[in-house]
Amino acid sequence: MAKFATLLLLAAVRLVIALPAYDSLVGLSERDVNDYIARHGVAHIPNPPLPLADGGIKLVNDPAHPFIAAGPNDIRGPCPALNTLASHGYLPRNGVARPDQIVTAVMEGLNLGNDFAKFLVYQAFLMNGNPITNLMSIGMKTPETGPNPPKPAQVGGLSQHGTFEGDTSMTRVDAYFGDQAVFNEDLFQGFIATSAKYGVNGTYDVNAAAELRYQRLQDSIKTNPQLVYTSPRILSAYSEAVFPTIFFVDGRLNNRQLTIDAARHFFDFQMMPADFHRQPAPVNFTMVDPLTKAIFDKHPFTPGVNHGKNNFVLQPKTPALSDFCGIYEDIVLRVIPGQYPRPTGALREAINKNLGFLYTAVKTEHNCAQVFPFGKD
Ligand code: HEM
Ligand SMILES: *[C@@H]1O[C@H](CO)[C@@H](O)[C@H](O)[C@H]1NC(C)=O
Ligand SMILES: *[C@@H]1O[C@H](CO)[C@@H](O)[C@H](O)[C@H]1NC(C)=O
Repeated sequence: MAKFATLLLLAAVRLVIALPAYDSLVGLSERDVNDYIARHGVAHIPNPPLPLADGGIKLVNDPAHPFIAAGPNDIRGPCPALNTLASHGYLPRNGVARPDQIVTAVMEGLNLGNDFAKFLVYQAFLMNGNPITNLMSIGMKTPETGPNPPKPAQVGGLSQHGTFEGDTSMTRVDAYFGDQAVFNEDLFQGFIATSAKYGVNGTYDVNAAAELRYQRLQDSIKTNPQLVYTSPRILSAYSEAVFPTIFFVDGRLNNRQLTIDAARHFFDFQMMPADFHRQPAPVNFTMVDPLTKAIFDKHPFTPGVNHGKNNFVLQPKTPALSDFCGIYEDIVLRVIPGQYPRPTGALREAINKNLGFLYTAVKTEHNCAQVFPFGKD
């Protein structure tokens, strides 16, 4: 009895010391987490934002959203869009945000369609965010996202390799070679060269995107002994190849031809070009899916993993790029339970709520059936 009380006291002291400052990077034990939740509850989880009331074209590099370069304590990560939105104050400038804030930011700042925004954000949040505090880092793991749920949950932020972040990025090296989140000038020179060779007027267009995506895969097959190119990475790899041809092009021109100058702004400077206008209408899956398919069709591939350099072993069981609902199910039934094998109580409720939000994003345009890894309530 006395021993139990001492343990409780110790746990309480540790919580009091560790939690207010959010400085514990160690996963708490399940009991500590339950104890924490019993005291503080989980954070309020706002519903996903609705589509924009006015989804038209708009100056988005405006005086209300000035570029301010990230300071030493501001987190940036692998996604040039989110980095840029943080540097313009569409996201909290420190790079730590709630999922609903990120949905709003990508709708407002770049005119992602509502479903599309929710699909990206809630899958990322479930893989990389903290369901207890409802916060996610857009880059590296940080104590700023609060006390962590028990391992094997990672709460690693968007830079966490092998979750949303994966291999063959266009401007970031594979994690095997170094920092997978930071802009790499050599790779950007490859982006420029490929655009010069294949893109209209030297722009990064859909042809350049197809060639660069292919080259990055071939390069990783040859050089990265630990290459992983399976669901869900294949979907993000192809989507991210297409995104710049849409969202980084000024909405007044909207010709799907990204100039190298504008690319340099987003990828390297994390800055919108002067006078930048967002897309003229919310961009949904119906617009993006055919472009993704077009670049796939130029260089089809079968998903696989390297067992050593230049030894690409096909993985026929992972869903193909064309199987969108299969990838949704793979994320929900395999990837997320990998981090949350048996969530209970308020943690499970928070995860289920976010899974419900993710489902709303795959319902309308893709007509996927909802899947439930942790029960239905
Ligand atoms: C307008 C919206 C967006 C655009 C234009 C965009 C664009 C991109 C691009 C071009 C890349 C590839 C970088 C490269 O290969 O060098 C990328 C990577 C990434 N994006 Fe975004 N993104 C958008 C929204 C989001 C959202 C909403 C999330 C999640 C909350 C997200 C998470 C990521 C992550 C995790 C990566 C890293 C992938 C990797 O390198 O393995 N992005 N994004
Ligand atoms: C290439 O750029 C020139 C000069 O800006 C322009 O007149 C021409 O229409 C462009 N070509 C295409 C195919 O967009
Ligand atoms: C997708 O966007 C297009 C173009 O703005 C629009 O015509 C279409 O109705 C949208 N589809 C859905 C399902 O939102």
